Amino acid sequence: MAERVLVCVAWPYANGSLHVGQVAGAYLPADIFARFNRLIGNEVLMVSGSDDHGTPTTVRAEQEGISPREVTDRYNAEFKESWKQLGIEFDIFTRTGTENHREVAQAFFLDLLDKGHITKGTMQALYCVNDNRFLPDRYVEGICPRCGFDPARGDQCDNCGHPLDATELIKPRCKFCGQEPIVRETEHFFLQLGHFEDQLKEWVGQQPHWRPQVSSFTKGFLDQGLQARAITRDIEWGVPIPLPGYDSKRLYVWFEACIGYLSSTIEWTRAQGNPDAWKDWWSPPTRSYYFIGKDNIVFHTVIWPSMLMGRGDLNLPFDVPANEYLNLEGAKVSTSRNWAIWIPEFLQRYDPDPLRYMLAANMPETRDADFAWEEFRRRNNDELVASWGNLVHRTLTFTVRNFEGKVPEAGTETTEIVEARMVEGFATVREMLAGCHFKNALREIMSLTQFGNRLLDERAPWRQIRTDRVACADTLAGLLTLINGVKVLTYPFLPFSVEKLHAMLGYSDTVLSHGWKLERLVAGTPLPDPEPLFKKIEE
Ligand code: MF3
Ligand code: ZN
Repeated sequence: MAERVLVCVAWPYANGSLHVGQVAGAYLPADIFARFNRLIGNEVLMVSGSDDHGTPTTVRAEQEGISPREVTDRYNAEFKESWKQLGIEFDIFTRTGTENHREVAQAFFLDLLDKGHITKGTMQALYCVNDNRFLPDRYVEGICPRCGFDPARGDQCDNCGHPLDATELIKPRCKFCGQEPIVRETEHFFLQLGHFEDQLKEWVGQQPHWRPQVSSFTKGFLDQGLQARAITRDIEWGVPIPLPGYDSKRLYVWFEACIGYLSSTIEWTRAQGNPDAWKDWWSPPTRSYYFIGKDNIVFHTVIWPSMLMGRGDLNLPFDVPANEYLNLEGAKVSTSRNWAIWIPEFLQRYDPDPLRYMLAANMPETRDADFAWEEFRRRNNDELVASWGNLVHRTLTFTVRNFEGKVPEAGTETTEIVEARMVEGFATVREMLAGCHFKNALREIMSLTQFGNRLLDERAPWRQIRTDRVACADTLAGLLTLINGVKVLTYPFLPFSVEKLHAMLGYSDTVLSHGWKLERLVAGTPLPDPEPLFKKIEE
């Protein structure tokens, strides 16, 4: 039976281009998972958008001397172009800068305020007397109180991943003038996380399918006890507080961005002409998955769930398959030091499928992984071109040349062996993809291509053709069944080459329309002249 799956993907800050690490961390796994679910017949809604607000955007705008809206317009458009070129298929990719999002976020805030889960209070915040302004989040840097990393930002330490309160920083410095700020009192709203502590502990304890590092990080965080957290800031860029008297303050970017998962669902169902249908995506039996990088774990396993518990009528996350980091040539990616591979630049030089392949084969699912250019070249040349691409090319060219360009008749020898192996392969890959084990799923798929290559070498149709044409036909028919099956399995991973291959196998429709099924090609079907699926990358 078709199930409903809501695929939520972290909203990228609209303050700079995407890099390969983000794609490996969240967007590619989300897309693989969504494609897989569509292929097995589930109903999928994949949502995200640009995270337009907060200091990430204003810092950038100030650096460039343009307005924050200009910054977010530019990157929102660029992200959409990148998704298109990477084959990352969102059902909706919107932004937090919409009217709709503002309304939904403000209503959410008022609901929690009404229920007493948000309260008013004062706090000590950092203030620069030189610049005459409060220094929220990224406007201040200093030493991380937990791990000693310098510079940790005022909102979060990039090294140990702990969300920070700017006043916790040791030796804080104003981002504008470098001076040490003073502490000043300011009025804000607080989310009473403590209200949900017991409920969260119980809920987190009941998620055996979560990745171990996600569970343990979350449990560790909960064990330290939950304090109320400020969810507003002294800043003028963001979603306004829907109450009079707070003109110089906004909702904290993290508080409202998570609400984007909900507001984008509403935007989508409204655009479908079904304005109430969003409820179906936010209640059982729909399962929601959140694809994020590890620096976002606490927000998705503690804070957002608390907000949802506070509302009381919305689904909690079913799974939060957070990835670890993808380093670059052995060193941590740093956007400020320009140590990253930027997606728009990458796509000017290479095709998207080899990148998707490399990132999936190397996915940082359980520990940090590394992107090395030499490995990219090797995987492309040895695995995509030499193993998978050549199997397809050798089989198809030989068939087209020796069987009048038509699919040969299957026999019982090779075809049956192939089918038995493929049935097993389909089951294994399905189980792995359903459990978000993308790297292992791809490894199993590649072992099927190796099986195909061995079979081709053993059967040697170029010899069989001279002695036993019927057996030769069976060999090729069997290999074509294998190729046709592997095609289906690679659909979530390699969406561009898969459609090309589909056409080379004589189809004129889409892979998706066939679903998750192992099919024999019909004997006698005309095959077009094959073309190579992948290109070799030179040193
Ligand atoms: N913009 C954040 C980041 O890039 C992610 C926000 S995810 C959301 O780290 F759920 F809050 F939207
Ligand atoms: Zn730290």
